[in-house]
Amino acid sequence: MNFRAAFAAPSLAALVAGGVLTATPVLAADISMVLGSVGQDAAFMAKEVKLFEEATGHKVTIVPMPASTTDQFGQYRLWLAQGKNDIDVYQTDVIWAPQLADQFLDLSEAAKDVVGAHFPAIIESQTVGGKLVALPIFTDAPGLYYRTDLLEKYGEQPPKTWDELAATAKKIVEGERAAGHKDMWGFVWQGASYEGLTCNALEWVKSSGGGQIVEADGTISINNPEAAGALDRARGWIVDGITPPGVLSYQEEEARGVWQLGNSVFMRNWPYAYGLGSSDDSAVKGKFAAIPLPSVEGQASAATLGGWNLAVSRHSRVQEPATELVLFLTSPEAQKRRAIENSQFPTVMALYDDAELAEKQPVTIMWKDILTNAVPRPSAPTKLKYNEVSSRFWNAAHSVLSGQKTGAAALEELETTLARLQGRGW
Ligand code: GLC
Repeated sequence: MNFRAAFAAPSLAALVAGGVLTATPVLAADISMVLGSVGQDAAFMAKEVKLFEEATGHKVTIVPMPASTTDQFGQYRLWLAQGKNDIDVYQTDVIWAPQLADQFLDLSEAAKDVVGAHFPAIIESQTVGGKLVALPIFTDAPGLYYRTDLLEKYGEQPPKTWDELAATAKKIVEGERAAGHKDMWGFVWQGASYEGLTCNALEWVKSSGGGQIVEADGTISINNPEAAGALDRARGWIVDGITPPGVLSYQEEEARGVWQLGNSVFMRNWPYAYGLGSSDDSAVKGKFAAIPLPSVEGQASAATLGGWNLAVSRHSRVQEPATELVLFLTSPEAQKRRAIENSQFPTVMALYDDAELAEKQPVTIMWKDILTNAVPRPSAPTKLKYNEVSSRFWNAAHSVLSGQKTGAAALEELETTLARLQGRGW
């Protein structure tokens, strides 16, 4: 199929007709955009940018950054504070808006005709004091990936509870290792000291009835027995040999590496891993499915709300063309291409009723439920302090995973630290 003819031409025409893009700019601008890349993010973005360049005559340079959102945040915060003016567009994590709001343009006016098409909660998450800080390119929430072939071989059902997951993982790992598959593991996830661990640990805690670290009204709720038990349970997966000890330094791509080589029964990961796992060079192609993450008996499953956006720097010298680029890359057509090619899901609501998307990426429909019930991290209540709150939380979780502290001891200390942070205002 001709990619451009199928997707690009009508969208560009529509954007030009709608006044979003100028067909021939008076002056072609050089725009630079910075983004971290996980999986094939950067490769996909390069293709999209080419379509924009062809339609507008502007030139876009992509500046690649490390995969870790924590590393990106540290670098961007520094650059923006210094007033760096040679980066125009930033790809931003859903949690950053309150902390970086002052550094970005208000997109409300430029996006007034398109914001209504997106999930209101996502637009709200990017709106700080009435200012629309960024526009979304995709939304994110993880699932539990499992090997359909192995569960069938061992006569097991996909797990609904964490205990079922552990029991099934143990049985299959023991069976597979005894049969000579020495590299086999039961469950891989993200246990490194970074934002990704905050996401994983929030899911264990919330799905155990232990709350959301800091609640929407600002109450610090993390020091409770359910939360402590949830962290101890995750430590138990490592002690029991279900999860590799190396998980203490795994981010998304390390977990996917083990999984996609066929060396794990289960994996917690974001939707991007679905498309990559189904590619021709994947050892698990056609042998896996994804479902909501487990919970403890009587509690609901919890998936952390993730997702990425684009923002225009207030220090940019090409603010108008940079805003055009953001509108192009966040448009329904771009989101649909991303969903089909990258299995990263739209924030444009109507795309969930799009027949072509449903046919080419059927997992979109299953994921819609996970996405709409996703649990936010406490970035709204903790405002400018979110990064500090999160780093204290992931360090506490890491100290339990590595066996230095019990869940109860780590969370008692964490509560004191968070109260001190809150006392100084957040
Ligand atoms: C994914 C999510 C993002 C989250 C990150 C953690 O990229 O979309 O919101 O912060 O993972 O590693």
